[in-house]
Amino acid sequence: MKILVFTEKPFAPAAVKAIENAINAAGAEMKLVERGTREDLLKAVADANALIVRSDKIDGAVMDAAPELKVIVRAGAGYDNIDLAVATAHGICVMNTPGQNSNAVAELVFGMVVMMVRNQYNGTSGTELKGKSLGIYAFGQVGRNVARIAKGFGMDVTALDLFVKDEVMEAEGVKPLHTPEELFEQNQFVSLHIPATPQTRGSIGYDLVMRMPKGGVLINTARKEVIDEAGLLRALKEREDLRYVSDIKPDNAQEMLDACAARVFFTPKKMGAQTAEANFNAGVAAAEQSIAYLRDGWNKYQVNK
Ligand code: 3PG
Repeated sequence: MKILVFTEKPFAPAAVKAIENAINAAGAEMKLVERGTREDLLKAVADANALIVRSDKIDGAVMDAAPELKVIVRAGAGYDNIDLAVATAHGICVMNTPGQNSNAVAELVFGMVVMMVRNQYNGTSGTELKGKSLGIYAFGQVGRNVARIAKGFGMDVTALDLFVKDEVMEAEGVKPLHTPEELFEQNQFVSLHIPATPQTRGSIGYDLVMRMPKGGVLINTARKEVIDEAGLLRALKEREDLRYVSDIKPDNAQEMLDACAARVFFTPKKMGAQTAEANFNAGVAAAEQSIAYLRDGWNKYQVNK
């Protein structure tokens, strides 16, 4: 069994070692390509039976170049980087590793929020999170971790997720909401955890953001595609009390920084899941899932069924 680990954004070295150990313990062979180009990927995938990736784009050309490929495991949650229809047509199973990096992403939400409400540590008086309202958009693994941490800060937590029953949220001390309008109107802080799908693309824009109460802070550790960037910029320009922190640089980042200066913050590269622990958990899970699929057809987390 040949397992290719291709990561444009490398895992922590200890995680790579653990992935290799898991693969070797199963009698399989790991090929590692870090920071590789697309050409590197097309070449390296030629004899791979399994492919482990992060946000790396896996389309038909990659699958055409991989006649032996049986399974692709996205070491992480979102799989919008993989062409599922083409994978299905090629008979390739695609899985993700749900929950393995969600705490890391949730912690970064608060890392960015505290920095923003303390005015990016410029020495002026900021504000606290205690007693403030937080709305979580999508109550999946990351959203639940965000809720847990927010309660530690003493925030009032609400969430919107039409796929999750109200009782599930209530059991975790979270008030369920049922429309995006309510979510934005009722919360000073809104944290996005929706995947990028045809339904969500560009869905967060001017109209929703303008509904936020005074001092609204929008937090995005999900995907840049879910934002209508022109609409968000317009709202930020019209309302000087609004702020935006994002782990994914928008295409109009410079325009936003020029217009809003310290009211916006972007990490240089998406790094929500970039912790040693998340790399280890997601990477080893991806290795074990690849092996289990190749050996026994185990496909619990298949996303192209
Ligand atoms: C995910 O979908 O798991 C996160 O966005 C992390 O993505 P990454 O592996 O590219 O950091």
